[in-house]
Amino acid sequence: MKLFIDSADYEEIKQAYDWGIADGVTTNPSLMKKAVSKMKTNWNDYIKKILRRAKGTPVSLEVTSTDATGMIAEGKQLYKMFNKVAKNVVIKIPVNPALKEKDSTHFDGITAIRALTRSKIPVNCTLVFTPEQALLAAKAGASFVSPFAGRIDDLLREDCGTKFKKWDYYPAQGHAGEKIVYNDNGIISGIDLVDKCVRVLKQYNMNTQVLAASVRNVRQVRESAIVGADIATIPLTVMKDLIAHPKTFDGMAKFNKDVVVDYAKLTHKESLSRRLGVSVKWK
Ligand code: E4P
Repeated sequence: MKLFIDSADYEEIKQAYDWGIADGVTTNPSLMKKAVSKMKTNWNDYIKKILRRAKGTPVSLEVTSTDATGMIAEGKQLYKMFNKVAKNVVIKIPVNPALKEKDSTHFDGITAIRALTRSKIPVNCTLVFTPEQALLAAKAGASFVSPFAGRIDDLLREDCGTKFKKWDYYPAQGHAGEKIVYNDNGIISGIDLVDKCVRVLKQYNMNTQVLAASVRNVRQVRESAIVGADIATIPLTVMKDLIAHPKTFDGMAKFNKDVVVDYAKLTHKESLSRRLGVSVKWK
């Protein structure tokens, strides 16, 4: 499974790439808003800097219009302005941009996806909360669909009246209260949503990757991989958590204590001297 960094903060993006674990970047308007205070340049230069650092891997840039005509025009413009920088721009389109039930724009996201992909512009379809939405986006030609795991968990926790923090884990198999498992029209957890999107698209060999989004803790990363998501997009904090385990620290402390000097001296005199606080000489 690939890992994307879910951030518009250049320093965070750079860190993830410097570690060698980032396979792409996802941004959204809220992440852009968060990045503003740290920006030392204009948006044009800032986006170019991100694209260059992520060269060779996809970077999703989201549109801000909420109707098909606007999203198509904006998607084409963003692609034209920025894809030339590092050839890695993906346009992010909401599956349904309607702000309320009675808006007439419910299918405008699908229309925009179809138009952009016909113009050979790759699309990441965002705000996916059902496998059916994923299917429609895939049919329209999206390269990626982004089911929002964490936000489905938020909804289910709210339904069961549980107090929770944004980063808390919610069980993949749903929450069994006294007798009921809470669900959102049959979806029992965020990972269940990811799983069902994967199964639907694989079943029909659709050429669309499932990008598990709104992933907020390490267990959701693990479970996204287990259910076969192509990608998980995660914040830097979750990337950091992926590497830590107390027994790894314990093990390192013990190995470090047991180092046989003559063995270590074969290869690294200087760092060994520093570590032991004594001068280690080559024979
Ligand atoms: C994905 O592309 C979204 O930008 C993101 O994962 C949303 O995460 P959140 O629900 O934690 O805000």
